[in-house]
Amino acid sequence: MTAPASEFVHKPKQIDFDTAASVPVAALTAWQGIFDHGKLASGQRILITGASGAVGSMAVQLAKNKGARVIGTGSGRNEEFVRKLGADEFIDYKKEKFEEKVRDLDVVFDTVGGDTQERAFQTLKGGGFLVSTVSPPSAEKAKEFGVTVAMVQMMPKPDQLVEINRLVESGKLKVRVATVLPLAEVKKAHQLSAAGHADGKIILRP
Ligand SMILES: NC(=O)c1ccc[n+]([C@@H]2O[C@H](COP(=O)([O-])OP(=O)(O)OC[C@H]3O[C@@H](n4cnc5c(N)ncnc54)[C@H](OP(=O)(O)O)[C@@H]3O)[C@@H](O)[C@H]2O)c1
Repeated sequence: MTAPASEFVHKPKQIDFDTAASVPVAALTAWQGIFDHGKLASGQRILITGASGAVGSMAVQLAKNKGARVIGTGSGRNEEFVRKLGADEFIDYKKEKFEEKVRDLDVVFDTVGGDTQERAFQTLKGGGFLVSTVSPPSAEKAKEFGVTVAMVQMMPKPDQLVEINRLVESGKLKVRVATVLPLAEVKKAHQLSAAGHADGKIILRP
């Protein structure tokens, strides 16, 4: 695979290539979602839906590292994992409705989409931000609730990746590799990913 040299950075030394391969897309998506679009600042409160996923788990750690109060959603089996990443609160989406538990938030970072994204509007304060990795949130609802909405289209930004790698090297950003498969099993990898319950990144090895 080729790309402009300006888009490459050195991988963090402490992690192997499989783990390193799982960093850029997930971490840059989270970084650009919560900081570039969501304008997350220290002391603010953020809801991260799908906090146990590849992107969500990066977002939890980046937000926590920024000094935000983090509320993550996921299924019960991932509660301990998400709390260990630094989430202050965990909401089990199979048992509870997050919109009944949190309100007046500064930022929602949505990695689930659909009905989850629709309901997230109710949790924001006026002037808040709803950023999704899945689909563009409704402009009509944004007007109704007085919030700013955006969808992240992850871009390779080496300066951000350098910052991200520093966090990996200092142990402040942990990476979750779900499984490593040979390239010949690309179909299985795709099915795993599409099912939406992979528990981390799926790595294909040539
Ligand atoms: N726009 C971009 O640039 C960009 C970049 C990267 C990814 N994406 C998109 O972002 C989304 C997330 O990607 P990912 O790699 O993080 O996916 P992932 O690793 O498959 O994670 C999805 C997570 O969401 C959880 N989940 C499923 N339904 C949920 C619900 N209703 N409420 C709360 N959590 C729920 C799952 O946990 P359980 O298994 O416990 O249910 C799983 O841990 C995907 O749609 C992907 O295509 C977009």
